[in-house]
Amino acid sequence: MAILVAGGAGYIGSHVCKMLLQKGFDVVVYDNLVHGYRCFAQWGDFVQGDIGDQAQLDSVFSNFKIDVVMHFCAFIEVAESVIEPEKYYKNNVQNTITLLEAMRKHGINKFIFSSTAAVYGMPERTPIEEEDRKLPINPYGKSKLMIEEILDDYSSAYGFRSIRFRYFNAAGADPEREIGEAHVPETHLIPLLLDAAIGRRKDIKVFGTDYETQDGTCVRDYIHVNDLADAHIRGVDYLLDGGNTNYFNLGSGSGFTVREMIQTAKKITTKDFAVVETDRRPGDPPYLIACSDKAQKKLDWKLQHSLEDIIITAWNWHQTMAGRKLV
Ligand SMILES: NC(=O)c1ccc[n+]([C@@H]2O[C@H](COP(=O)([O-])OP(=O)(O)OC[C@H]3O[C@@H](n4cnc5c(N)ncnc54)[C@H](O)[C@@H]3O)[C@@H](O)[C@H]2O)c1
Repeated sequence: MAILVAGGAGYIGSHVCKMLLQKGFDVVVYDNLVHGYRCFAQWGDFVQGDIGDQAQLDSVFSNFKIDVVMHFCAFIEVAESVIEPEKYYKNNVQNTITLLEAMRKHGINKFIFSSTAAVYGMPERTPIEEEDRKLPINPYGKSKLMIEEILDDYSSAYGFRSIRFRYFNAAGADPEREIGEAHVPETHLIPLLLDAAIGRRKDIKVFGTDYETQDGTCVRDYIHVNDLADAHIRGVDYLLDGGNTNYFNLGSGSGFTVREMIQTAKKITTKDFAVVETDRRPGDPPYLIACSDKAQKKLDWKLQHSLEDIIITAWNWHQTMAGRKLV
């Protein structure tokens, strides 16, 4: 079975490609490298291309017999999406529709989509279940929800079967240190903490210390990238076994405050670094924790990595790539 991994040269996609190949799937990575790295696309064939390029998609789907498409391509910075919504709707929505069109043209009807906890906006309760209210509060989250709705319509009208995985905070790295998280610019807490630990940034900022949480800082759910990858493999099996269109939260079900994350990072790296407390950012919910019972039941998915694993693997990768320029 062959899987086309759009965005497979990025952080999460590359970990999924490595696991897909280990499980015996054929892999074709399709990525324009706008935020990915050629050196991350080590597993399977690589085609440099844009998901908005219908002609190139035509040629890829003609050259490779693809059974399932996984779609990781997106612009992912929430703050930027507020300032430049067009950029987000164009890439995350318009280009995704082009990809779906090309798939339909070539008779490919199985699709796995990277969605996000951001579709829930300010959650009504915690932990968040899949049927909870979805009211995204920024163009990034809205762009993902739009595709989710489009996928429901494609399912009813065309028999196009898909899975949407709503990731919470993807984190950690390949335990063999071959790939890891390297967003530019980096906005995710763990790599920022590790940058501070390694001396690449002078301090770490805590946005808001007066939330109604155990220590006043925001609580988030961190999920190891290989636990995400494992869910994707199960998602492929589910679709290949004839499973219907479905959607799942993917998180650990545990929440950690920013202060707890700082403490754990300092302990694991054995480095001290400056922490600067500052005002809340608009739009940060106090709690974002997933209920992933549905994925556990329907996909027989089990969490294998703890928060410690996440920070240890991320730290190992961070040290391995320190001073290296990724290309
Ligand atoms: N990282 C997280 O914590 C997180 C959380 C929730 C959801 N997600 C979603 O998971 C997906 C992957 O996230 P990531 O952290 O790996 O991001 P990433 O930026 O590392 O990977 C995205 C990849 O897509 C490629 N890409 C973007 N636009 C493209 C286009 N038009 N054509 C071809 N390639 C294109 C980029 O070059 C990059 O390699 C995204 O859709 C994101 O919204 C991520």
